[in-house]
Amino acid sequence: MSNAEQSITPKILVVGQGAREHALLHALSQSPQHPQLFIAPGNAGCETLATLVPISATDVPALVDFAVSQGVTFVVVGPEAPLSLGLVDALAEKGIPAFGPSQACATLESSKFFAKQCMAQAGVPTAHYAYCQTQAEGFTALEAIGKPPYVVKEDGLAAGKGVTIASTLDEAKKAVEHAVEKAMPVVIESFLEGVELSLFAICDGLHAVPLPPAQDFKRVGDEDTGLNTGGMGAYSPVYFADEALVSAVQTKVLVPMLKTMAERGTPFHGLLYVGLMVHPHKPESLNVVEFNVRFGDPETQVVLPLLTAENVDVLALLQASATTGALATLFPQWVASGYTPSQLPWFCERSNQARPSAVTVVLASQGYPEAYSTGNPIVLPQFDTLEQGVMIYHAGTQKSADGAGLLSAGGRVLSVTALAENLPQARRKAYQAIEAVDFPTGFNRSDIALKACQF
Ligand code: AMP
Ligand code: GLY
Repeated sequence: MSNAEQSITPKILVVGQGAREHALLHALSQSPQHPQLFIAPGNAGCETLATLVPISATDVPALVDFAVSQGVTFVVVGPEAPLSLGLVDALAEKGIPAFGPSQACATLESSKFFAKQCMAQAGVPTAHYAYCQTQAEGFTALEAIGKPPYVVKEDGLAAGKGVTIASTLDEAKKAVEHAVEKAMPVVIESFLEGVELSLFAICDGLHAVPLPPAQDFKRVGDEDTGLNTGGMGAYSPVYFADEALVSAVQTKVLVPMLKTMAERGTPFHGLLYVGLMVHPHKPESLNVVEFNVRFGDPETQVVLPLLTAENVDVLALLQASATTGALATLFPQWVASGYTPSQLPWFCERSNQARPSAVTVVLASQGYPEAYSTGNPIVLPQFDTLEQGVMIYHAGTQKSADGAGLLSAGGRVLSVTALAENLPQARRKAYQAIEAVDFPTGFNRSDIALKACQF
């Protein structure tokens, strides 16, 4: 490589260590900009795509030092914790652009109360709520709701574990007591009926570009039974998230939220993850359940392959988020059309039987999301035996001591993903690939995307 070529090779640091970050690396590696990739700290699966950097995702000073010393040109932040710790702000002080919001905007995820206040300011539809700092306030708010189910949310970053949907008043009161004991305020809100949908929007402070809608499966057991997890599988696109619904999210949520955040003096850059409760084919009934400020896991593992299948340069997309207004240059027709979803290259309004789709199934350690053991052997199928379009993204994996084998190192271990010309094919391929993984101490749900295959 000549000096000139070397000087224009982007040096990208991805922060995080899950299957989401493995999928991000995979998408970035397909960029026509041919980036040099680093990941801190990464996992055993990332080694073929990037240099692993042994720095924790929450060690902000060490990450900034690494980026400065290595001449990193762009940082892609996966998880929420470094965003809440101000990684993007600290990088900006050193002149290094990043994909992700400022610390101020990351509060949309770390505080349910702050998110509710911003939604109220923006006029975004969401459940009615009460913010309670004492047990007495909490009990009064629950009694005002008057009938189950009761929704009690701790007001802090809880990795999905701080929300209780209680079917009795007693259970709801216990959740309030539990939070108050930890000196944690709670948001109590009315229960929303409907189906959940995840819509990710890449934001540049002015515009919010919606990515293919996805659904994740949060409960550990088939047919949505058992405990809540970080996510046991996902598929995209979603049969009922048609152009009318995505347009309604744009008009009712994305445009007003970006305007509000800019007016507050904290324009939103990065990814706004809109967790929605909707009624299929009734765009007027949508409500926001929550905001997150980063890519969702496992939805990313299905959303990104759909973008790269359309030859989208994911690196250029993420880079554009860091510069105010830059998304308009990437998608001029979409802006000119007044944000019509069908003007985006990945938007396709056909049935699940007739459009490119992706499915991911999570292989987890037995016992997850409660206690589980690690260090158990996994044997993956040879890469060249996998069907085209199958990707095995690693989450909790590590190399064995001799470097020859693969061991489990977490609760969610692998995210087995397949891309195909329609949803039933993608589902079949993902489950066939799961069969080819030898992980005797693992388990997976067997019904990911099953119902959606009927539509
Ligand atoms: P959150 O962390 O706010 O997304 O809440 C976690 C999960 O709890 C959501 O994905 C929903 O399944 C459920 N949930 C949260 N708030 C509500 C609500 N107001 N009504 C119904 N379900 C809810
Ligand atoms: N898929 C849920 C999350 O990433 O929070």
